[in-house]
Amino acid sequence: MAGNRTFTMIKPGAVRKNYEGAILKMINDAGFKIRAMKLTRMSTTQAGAFYEVHKGKPFYDNLVKFMSSGPIVAAILEKDNAIEDFRKLIGATNPENAAEGTVRKLFACSVTENAVHGADSDENATREADFFFSTFERFYDYE
Ligand code: PPS
Repeated sequence: MAGNRTFTMIKPGAVRKNYEGAILKMINDAGFKIRAMKLTRMSTTQAGAFYEVHKGKPFYDNLVKFMSSGPIVAAILEKDNAIEDFRKLIGATNPENAAEGTVRKLFACSVTENAVHGADSDENATREADFFFSTFERFYDYE
């Protein structure tokens, strides 16, 4: 994703609690532009494929079950240094270790129900964006 884009999901627990508006506001306020976005729900097969890299880890089944349990908001975000800056904005995977003022500190309740996903590399951001969005659903040149 050429360093200036990342992929995120607002996870089912946060959508269930109607936190998506507040989380999107934090994302905008931090300087990210939304270049693609949808409310959708993954099947267990789709969630299994999305998190294939974690297959075999002890939390994999639980993660797939949770991530397919309800709607998520998927989005492509744009900003200089997007991957790193977004991971700073959301905080540590486990909300107990997340810094004050981060999305996960404010909205997550456990390492599974941790409010948001953020891609951890350009390569994964590209793969994850391609998983959800066609070319026609992306607005990279819009100002
Ligand atoms: S790893 O093994 O270090 O790569 O894993 P990590 O980056 O910490 O987490 C990867 C994703 O798995 C989720 N996770 C869990 N889900 C359920 N139960 C447990 N115990 C658990 N531990 C980690 C975590 O929320 C990460 O999800 P994403 O969507 O990638 O943020």
